[in-house]
Amino acid sequence: AAGPWEECFQAAVQLALRAGQIIRKALTEEKRVSTKTSAADLVTETDHLVEDLIISELRERFPSHRFIAEEAAASGAKCVLTHSPTWIIDPIDGTCNFVHRFPTVAVSIGFAVRQELEFGVIYHCTEERLYTGRRGRGAFCNGQQLRVSGETDLSKALVLTEIGPKRDPATLKLFLSNMERLLHAKAHGVRVIGSSTLALCHLASGAADAYYQFGLHCWDLAAATVIIREAGGIVIDTSGGPLDLMACRVVAASTREMAMLIAQALQTINYGRDDEK
Ligand code: IPD
Repeated sequence: AAGPWEECFQAAVQLALRAGQIIRKALTEEKRVSTKTSAADLVTETDHLVEDLIISELRERFPSHRFIAEEAAASGAKCVLTHSPTWIIDPIDGTCNFVHRFPTVAVSIGFAVRQELEFGVIYHCTEERLYTGRRGRGAFCNGQQLRVSGETDLSKALVLTEIGPKRDPATLKLFLSNMERLLHAKAHGVRVIGSSTLALCHLASGAADAYYQFGLHCWDLAAATVIIREAGGIVIDTSGGPLDLMACRVVAASTREMAMLIAQALQTINYGRDDEK
């Protein structure tokens, strides 16, 4: 039977596919690039165009709903998750990839009600892979059910991370030393693919065993969290405690054992909170 948020879920799928088409076309065209919080934090007119498209369509269909979105937040809109139905949107995740035509770029649409994540839709624009997860109803990629690897042993793990926007020497030192700690623990490899949402989808698919990052945002995490949980994985705070969507940090893994091993290995990089900006 269709769940209570079926209409919203179907709208998210349709909009992610439409946005993906726009992004796929724009990928090979000339772009106007601006920077946001750092020289490595990029935005293009396509980020704005796609975000405006998604929000205006959803607002028309669901006028009482609230929105948290990357480019609106960059222009000063507050990121507060209330009990109202709330859409959490990243129009282009992997903007730096997009700018360089590196074909790992996604649209991410998450949806929460009473501060609980209900569903997530992530569209890999160039490979045309649609990842979906609905609370209690499983996670899928183009119709195929997703399952995490189930790996518990860090010395057998493929680990994913992202660099994050801050590039000052102290932050970089911590970032590299975190990576070094995982390599010392004999992880098989550490990968940086340039899109947090797609890295998290690889974890949900069983193509990687863990993910961690400092400096990601709620719109990088919302949709992916549902997909990973529904694929049997764990998403927690880097302290080892429960996930805090607004805390700009995460450990996700195929098992709780693996997530705790990684959380214990990490030193904190302080990025502040999304709801205090
Ligand atoms: C960013 C990318 C990047 C990650 C950042 C994200 P954006 O998203 O996923 O790889 O390091 O934390 O915010 O800015 O391209 O939407």
